Amino acid sequence: MRFTMGLNLLLLVAMVATNILSLYHLSSTLQSKPPAPAPVPDHLLHQLSTIRATINHLTRLQPTTNTNPTTSKKPTIPSDLLLYTHISPVASSCRDYPDLLHQYMNYTPFSLCPLDSALAESLILRGCHPLPRRRCFSRTTAKLPTSLPTNPFSPLPDNAHLWNIYTCKSFTCLSRLNPELGFDMKAEKSKFTTYKTDLDLPIQQLIQISKSANSVLRLALDIGGGTGTFAAQMKEQNVTVITTTMNLGAPYNEAVALRGLVPLHVPLQQRLPVFDGVLDLVRCGHAVNRWIPVTAMEFLFYDVDRVLRGGGYFWLDHFFSKRVDLEKVYAPLIGKLGYKKVKWAVGNKMDSSGVKNGEAYLTALLQKPVSR
Ligand SMILES: *[C@@H]1O[C@H](CO)[C@@H](O)[C@H](O)[C@H]1NC(C)=O
Repeated sequence: MRFTMGLNLLLLVAMVATNILSLYHLSSTLQSKPPAPAPVPDHLLHQLSTIRATINHLTRLQPTTNTNPTTSKKPTIPSDLLLYTHISPVASSCRDYPDLLHQYMNYTPFSLCPLDSALAESLILRGCHPLPRRRCFSRTTAKLPTSLPTNPFSPLPDNAHLWNIYTCKSFTCLSRLNPELGFDMKAEKSKFTTYKTDLDLPIQQLIQISKSANSVLRLALDIGGGTGTFAAQMKEQNVTVITTTMNLGAPYNEAVALRGLVPLHVPLQQRLPVFDGVLDLVRCGHAVNRWIPVTAMEFLFYDVDRVLRGGGYFWLDHFFSKRVDLEKVYAPLIGKLGYKKVKWAVGNKMDSSGVKNGEAYLTALLQKPVSR
């Protein structure tokens, strides 16, 4: 028992640490920008010059065109990285982690890729996204599952993907390690169905709300959706939900796919990969919280606004922050969107870190104005 608790803690710390690392990267980039008198064009120019500088930086170091003798001491750039930079730009944040990037691009083309999905994950979390493409074959398992589940709440087959990089070698192990991770399908089956506190919004109620507003729910996005349980529950209501999820210490993307749902492997800081006004609902779960720098959060919220159709819903589900910040920072930030507050529930966060930091939860269902 103590062992499991210790592991849980470790896992939590690891998750928090990776998150904070990426967020630290974000905040430090944001803070280091000088205040611009004409924000939009300057910002754009800054972005453009950063991207250009990255490409220049990378291509300048190419041995054949290089005339600077001092660079011979610099680490060799993998040849496939040099080749790729001629085809497509590499995200500007990749430049900040040359060691990781070089390690990632240092592979033998046209053969099996290195077993390095953890490396890819840490680059993406540091803002290096999209990652450069590679010309190698990703690895697959030798054994195929006899059948794949069609019901999104069936137990997940363990032999459908590689476990090499994880301590746990099965979904059962992951559920035992921490039932909250979302791999125990029996536990997942009851999520989003019950109303225990005012912070809950059961799916039946959500559907009722949209029905009575004559607003149809067809297509939604779940940001930071873990193993895809919201999408699974909505599938039973004939609503299509795509789930963004990272593989933070566990095979979340694989789990979503095994459930027959759509996993998008994108970090929180990425522009949402859908067109303007195409979604009826965007849900943000636990992953969106006070650890995200406020400016990054603003960009996220306005991107959510971009992808929502008029009359679409924005659901902040158990968003947590310090209670004072909820009133002083986040409520005004959300208010700027000009959405109708269909639901607004605040409650104390009662776990140990919540009590220690004076944190509160907010569950809000907001409706985008029909026309602007
Ligand atoms: C979903 O669609 C199926 C097939 O059209 C239908 O039988 C079922 O009643 C629908 N479920 C809901 C909750 O609307």
